[in-house]
Formats: sequence, C-alpha cells, structure tokens
Amino acid sequence: MQAIAVEPGAGEPVLVETPRPEPDPGEALVRTLRVGVDGTDHEVIAGHHGNLPDGASQLVLGHEAVGVVEDANGTDLEEGEVVVPTVRRPPNGTNEYFERGEPDMAPDGEYVERGIVGAHGFMAEYFTSPAEYLVPIPADLASLGFLVEPISITEKALEHAVASRSAFDWDLESALVLGNGSLGLLTLAIFETVLDVDRTYCLGRRDRPHPTIDLIDDLGSTYVDSRETPVSEIPDVHEAADLVYEATGHAKHAFETVDALAPNGVGVLLGVPEPWSFEVDGGRLHRELVLHNKALLGTVNSHRGHFESAVDTLAQLPEWFTDDLVTGVYGLEDFRAAFETGDTVVKTAVEFDTI
Ligand code: NAP
Ligand code: BGC
Ligand code: ZN
Repeated sequence: MQAIAVEPGAGEPVLVETPRPEPDPGEALVRTLRVGVDGTDHEVIAGHHGNLPDGASQLVLGHEAVGVVEDANGTDLEEGEVVVPTVRRPPNGTNEYFERGEPDMAPDGEYVERGIVGAHGFMAEYFTSPAEYLVPIPADLASLGFLVEPISITEKALEHAVASRSAFDWDLESALVLGNGSLGLLTLAIFETVLDVDRTYCLGRRDRPHPTIDLIDDLGSTYVDSRETPVSEIPDVHEAADLVYEATGHAKHAFETVDALAPNGVGVLLGVPEPWSFEVDGGRLHRELVLHNKALLGTVNSHRGHFESAVDTLAQLPEWFTDDLVTGVYGLEDFRAAFETGDTVVKTAVEFDTI
C-alpha cells in the first residue's frame, strides 16, 4: 500500500510503498479516508518536533485521521463504521496513564504519538489500531472527520481552563485567540458559534485581503494584527480577555498573555516553540499573576472523552465555516499540495479513499 512519510533531514514528505498492516488480536484494520495536516506536521517535517519509531529510517506522517473499519477482527466495532483514531499509544504494554484513560497526561517516555513521536502515523491507505483507541463518528461527518482530532485538543484545553476557574464565580465573556492557523480558527469558531462567547478577538500577522481574516470577520470576531497591536497592548486598544488561547507557537506570547488577561482570567498555552532566549520582566509577570488571580496553563494532546465531545462540537459548527476553513483536499497523486503553505491555504487534508 502507499503511505506518506518523511526522512530525517529531507524537509519534505514522499510517497512510499509499505506492507498493508495485519491487525493483532484486539485491533481493527481501518481503511483510511482522509488525514488532515496541521502546524505540528510542518514542525515534524522540519525536524523541530517528534522522532522516528525505534529502528525506522522514516516516519509515516499523519495524526488527524478518519477512516472506515475494514476488518473488525473480533472487536466490538462493526465493519463499515466510520472511526477517528486517538493519537497516543503506550510504548511498552500499558501504563497507569493509559489504564485510567488519561494518556494525554502521560510524561515523556510513557507514550508514543502516531505520526509524531516514535510511532508511524495514519497517512497510509490502511492502518491498524486497538479498538479502544478508535472513536466511532456518524457517517455524515466522515468527510470532516479529520477535524475531530484538532477539535479534541481544544476540548481538553477548555476543560482544563474552566476547571482552573471553577473555585469561584467566573464568567467567560471575552476570549482572545492568538494565531489564525487552523487550530486558532477552529477554536475561534467554537467560542463564537458553540459557546456563544459575547466578544472574541483573533490575532494574526497578515494583511487584508486574506482568507483567515475573512473567516474571523464572518464569525463576528475582531481581527488583531500583531504588527500593529502587540499582545500585551490588546487591553489598551480593545479589552482584556477572560480567556486567552495561545496557538501561535511564538514563545513571547506565553508571557504577553499574562498582560492580555483580565483579572481572574486564564491563559491556555498550546504552541510548541523551539528554544528561544529573550528578556522578560519576571518580577512584574509574577506580581501580575498573583495580584490579579490569573492562571497560565499548558496543555497537550487529548483523551477519548475529548474526542467524543469533539464529535458533538464538529456537528454544531456551521457548514459555511468548515467549507471556508478547508481550502484543499488532495488525492495521493497530488499529495504535495496538502503540505504547501501560502496566502490561500488554511486547512488541508490528503484523501486516501472515499466512503
Ligand atoms: P499553524 O497553522 O502554524 O498556525 C500558527 C498561526 O500563528 C499561523 O497562522 C501564524 O501566522 C500565526 N502566528 C505565528 N506567530 C505569530 C505572531 N507573532 N503574530 C501573529 N500571528 C502569528 O499551526 P496550528 O496547526 O494552527 O497550531 C498552532 C500551534 O499549536 C503550533 O505551535 C502547534 O504545534 C501547536 N499545537 C499544539 C497542540 C497541543 O496539543 N498542545 C495541538 C495542535 C497544535 P502566519 O501563517 O502568518 O505565519
Ligand atoms: C497533536 C497532539 C500532540 C501534539 C504534540 C499536536 O499537533 O494534535 O495530539 O500531542 O501535537 O506532539
Ligand atoms: Zn495536531
């Protein structure tokens, strides 16, 4: 079968021929429909994040997948069922994090991530997975099923953010999303159309006209250009936010988030930056966090429950939004286009097969 893989240092993905996998007991064989591409895939291709499976010379990419059960192999799944795989797997047998259904909270060494850290991904015509890591979704969501994984990332981030504010009477009235990439825009759409947050803002660094700024406008949100308004000055120009969701991977934003927050607000950091040294006024930030009861938290990955919530969330996103967000779905003959970046690209996917 064909798969899309990257070799360390190559800087671009290639099409490779690899044997079709055989499901082990407890695993199902899945025929891949579509696999999305996100910022993490670009970081993996550039060699800034992730690593190869033990003994492998290349990594099959892809962690945002949707497929159809081809061979249920005696599991509880049904052949023909549309499923989305979760990303993390235990590296050697199982461990306490996986046993309690919280693989997303496992520390380094206690997990691999398919398509990212030490395990082949889903960008192949078929993949196998233990049934417990396959989340069934309604067949009418199959074409957008590759959005379930990134939405699950936000389900987890928001669950943790809200939990951090649950000890007092906290209202989420204004939200600021840093980053107009696919994760930022999906999250903005959730704030606007699912959670009905009163006022939202989304930060980018592009000139109009731009498809992401059109999406921000159409969602009823306010575009903030970081070249004109640095994150820490957003409260002066617009307003301080009850919640800041950082999805730029720009390390300074982690600290500037503290200034962008309203008293009692929470900042959630999602970006995975490269090491970068710069000066910050640590004393002032420390004081600001303490004196205004602010919280700053990091969050990575998501568990099965987040995927299940993400399926409900995906079903609530307006069709016009997902139509505009997904700017390209490319077959295997054209797979390189799914990895291109540029002014007209927002979210892309590779299509391996149709339902
Ligand atoms: P992406 O497509 O690369 O989006 C990042 C966006 O941030 C881009 O639109 C970029 O703008 C914008 N940006 C970067 N620096 C900026 C600045 N200084 N001012 C204004 N805008 C800026 O990536 P993504 O897939 O949406 O993911 C976002 C980040 O979250 C990445 O770092 C990714 O690794 C991370 N991530 C983390 C998790 C997790 O579990 N924690 C899950 C998924 C993704 P330009 O396009 O103009 O450069
Ligand atoms: C994936 C997560 C993963 C994270 C860090 C993200 O793009 O969606 O599942 O945990 O990267 O590798
Ligand atoms: Zn991702």
